[in-house]
Amino acid sequence: MPSAEDVKSWYNQHYAAQGLQSMRPAAAYPVFLDLLGARAGNRLLDVSCGTGSLLAAARERAVDAVGVDLSDEAVKLARRVAPGAEVAVGAGEALAFRDGSFDYVSCLGSLEHFLDMGKGLEEMKRVAKPAAHFCIMVPNQDFIGWKVLGHQGTAQQDINEHLLPLKAWRQLFERHGLVVLRVVPDRWHAVRWRSPPSPNGGKRGAARFVIGPVLEAGWRLVPLRWQYQFVFVLANRSTPPTSP
Ligand SMILES: C[S@@+](CC[C@H](N)C(=O)[O-])C[C@H]1O[C@@H](n2cnc3c(N)ncnc32)[C@H](O)[C@@H]1O
Repeated sequence: MPSAEDVKSWYNQHYAAQGLQSMRPAAAYPVFLDLLGARAGNRLLDVSCGTGSLLAAARERAVDAVGVDLSDEAVKLARRVAPGAEVAVGAGEALAFRDGSFDYVSCLGSLEHFLDMGKGLEEMKRVAKPAAHFCIMVPNQDFIGWKVLGHQGTAQQDINEHLLPLKAWRQLFERHGLVVLRVVPDRWHAVRWRSPPSPNGGKRGAARFVIGPVLEAGWRLVPLRWQYQFVFVLANRSTPPTSP
């Protein structure tokens, strides 16, 4: 088992070498704000904010955005990408915020890298207001593509990455007092072809008009339990549910 310092140093090296290159482009992030129903003037905490693209998208909607990430290098980049947001270095398992501070808490593609996922969830719940909504994106152990690719997981397997199937993620959230309001597949890898190229969006060309639509249609036929990642929208179980 790696230590928190090992994980931090792995990500620091990763961000120092890759910068924004390995990240999804800005166009991939507003969908998470839509799922949360994020409204201007409300407060969002993005746990493991990486290079800050969700924070920037939130600022564009006048949502008060705060980010935290274990990696100093990520935080440096996030301050550039989302200049209006408050960003700090810190571990998701020990958030430096008061109880009941946020209307929304997000954690995208990151909880699976925590050394203690349960502690991370308890911290997200603690800093959230009673009626807050949570948006947590996690990877699927049963993703159909792992069979085609001949391996499971991402390069982050080298440091720390937990893959679970749909039912196990649901059970983990429920064990920590969260109610699942919605779970949708992460479709970015299929729909990315539709959006115009952006500085860190990679090459597209003719693929945008040929491969893209085929891939997108095919992806829709894949049942949720075999999709790449799940995006959970959650609420605190002890608060009467409201729709996001
Ligand atoms: C795949 S990146 C996702 C970044 C961002 N959420 C996004 O979607 O663009 C995973 C992030 O989790 C962060 N991370 C890993 N373990 C963490 C922990 N225990 N506490 C806070 N951040 C952590 C890493 O530094 C990295 O920035």
